[in-house]
Amino acid sequence: MRTQFGSKEHSSAYKLETLTPSTPFTGFSCPIEEYNEYLYKDALRSQNDHIAKTWLLREQATGAVAAYMSLIADAIKLSATEKELHNLNYPFKTIPAIKIAKLAVSQPFSEKYKGIGSFMIGAAIWKALGCNDDYCAARFLTVDADIEHDEGVLAFYQKNGFIQNDELFNKNRKTISMRKDIYC
Ligand SMILES: CC(C)(COP(=O)(O)OP(=O)(O)OC[C@H]1O[C@@H](n2cnc3c(N)ncnc32)[C@H](O)[C@@H]1OP(=O)(O)O)[C@@H](O)C(=O)NCCC(=O)NCCS
Repeated sequence: MRTQFGSKEHSSAYKLETLTPSTPFTGFSCPIEEYNEYLYKDALRSQNDHIAKTWLLREQATGAVAAYMSLIADAIKLSATEKELHNLNYPFKTIPAIKIAKLAVSQPFSEKYKGIGSFMIGAAIWKALGCNDDYCAARFLTVDADIEHDEGVLAFYQKNGFIQNDELFNKNRKTISMRKDIYC
């Protein structure tokens, strides 16, 4: 049976760390090959080119990567109704955000624990709040939920408080644009 991830003991057993050129990717394997390929082949180049910043959740005892996420700067267009929903009474449509460009959990870890993906969303919120405190404003966490590979990711993001962006709705979609207000 899977146990819940995120207890006090996990906070010392796992560490969220940034990708570096010498980072070993021991043990990461997700059922969707594209997400493995990105981590092994593209993540470092994207980071060096300042296209995406990658964070790894690493098991300290083994060095295995349990999950990773890549964050990028973003801005989303909201309709008047959508802005009202967040009490954003401004004449402009575009609101700053931070986007989860990639998120994946390694299968051996998701077989052992539930909640790692949600823990990573929490970590992304924490990073976004830190950005607001120290650098620049970003009201939302955004994601293009990859329903091409798994329709269930929509439910995963909804359970983590994301809602669909009406303005960016695209009928012939492989992804669904979503946002989460990090201040409510
Ligand atoms: C999507 C992913 C990150 C979810 O991580 P996870 O650790 O399994 O998610 P959690 O355990 O935190 O799940 C939280 C809730 O979402 C649900 N959920 C998670 N993945 C789901 C899926 N694929 N389909 C339906 N529901 C899902 C869980 O059942 C759980 O619901 P509950 O709270 O009612 O029990 C992970 O499955 C993954 O890496 N998938 C492959 C890569 C991918 O698709 N990434 C997303 C790209 S946008």
